[in-house]
Amino acid sequence: MNCIKELLAARKLPELLEFADGTKVTADRWEERRLEMLDILRREEYGYAPPAPAYVRSEVIQAPKADYANKATVSYLNLTVPTDKGEFTFPIAQVVPTKRPESGKVPTFVLINFRPELPDKYFPVEDIVDAGCAVIRIYYNDVAFDGQDNFAGGIASHFDRSKYTWGKIGMWAWAASRAFDYLESVDWADLSRVAVIGHSRLGKTALWCAANDTRFAMACVNNSGCSGDAITRDKKGERVAQITKNFPFWFCDNYRKYCNNEYGMPFEQHFLVACVCPRKVAIGCALDDEWADPESQYLSACAASPAWELVGKTGIIHPDRLPVPGDFFHSGDVAYHLRAGAHFLSTEDWRHYLTLI
Ligand code: GCU
Repeated sequence: MNCIKELLAARKLPELLEFADGTKVTADRWEERRLEMLDILRREEYGYAPPAPAYVRSEVIQAPKADYANKATVSYLNLTVPTDKGEFTFPIAQVVPTKRPESGKVPTFVLINFRPELPDKYFPVEDIVDAGCAVIRIYYNDVAFDGQDNFAGGIASHFDRSKYTWGKIGMWAWAASRAFDYLESVDWADLSRVAVIGHSRLGKTALWCAANDTRFAMACVNNSGCSGDAITRDKKGERVAQITKNFPFWFCDNYRKYCNNEYGMPFEQHFLVACVCPRKVAIGCALDDEWADPESQYLSACAASPAWELVGKTGIIHPDRLPVPGDFFHSGDVAYHLRAGAHFLSTEDWRHYLTLI
């Protein structure tokens, strides 16, 4: 029996390795296909974002200070970017391990987080610096308020909606890319090993960010579920109807067309996962997170994997069965883990991501 193949066939997914005009995608045309899928996802789901700004200026607002048994240096900065309507500034926190290799450069996570506090239950600082990694933390409400404000505040108010249709997921993702712009100016970040990480709605954001911004070597997509990593067709838990009703401002208006009409979508979420190819994706799931649906997340990792195989990399390497708690399939460029417990970005999840960066 070919268990996973059968489960995937039942979802009747749109073809990943076929252009919209039906032409088969070959390895040399993968990038072309990736851009085609990104365009579909921008048009139908997340909206169009402004291009990268001409500059990112940084200003230290709280000078570097040793903390965490002096294992980390913590500082706070403001990042400022030009927009269509003047400059926009948002704060970041920076945590750099004190002990660094001879090169001075360390792998770095851009963490888009739910809270500004440090440490935070989703931000186990000591475990991260002990693994030799740095973090730039963005507090998402500093970029765009996570609520219905008719796009009147934050970065949203700096661009015209007639020009850019982005929802808040797109805005938070854009800010994470600005953190990468900033990293290009420091001497301690290993720019070949920068991952973007987020949990839940911010896991959707991390995935969308890495799909668009090829400078990120990896996306760590924690419990992202609906409109993130999970296949939508026949998904359990949250569906397009619920997410667009409760959080319409995360997306562009077009996405609402697919309420109770998932089979009408000319795309699926495995397109989004595959847009990170040939770089790495790490998908983290929790057994009790039925709203996100770990099975649909796993199937998405499997359905996206042929993209990596096409370009000579490895997709998910897994047994022909559904995962059980404690499973981690980490030997391919598409990594997946399922842990016991509820919806959360736990230190256990972080430990997986820390081994993969
Ligand atoms: C809600 C929402 C999910 C989202 C989650 C979160 O449950 O329906 O799509 O992932 O919030 O961000 O915590």
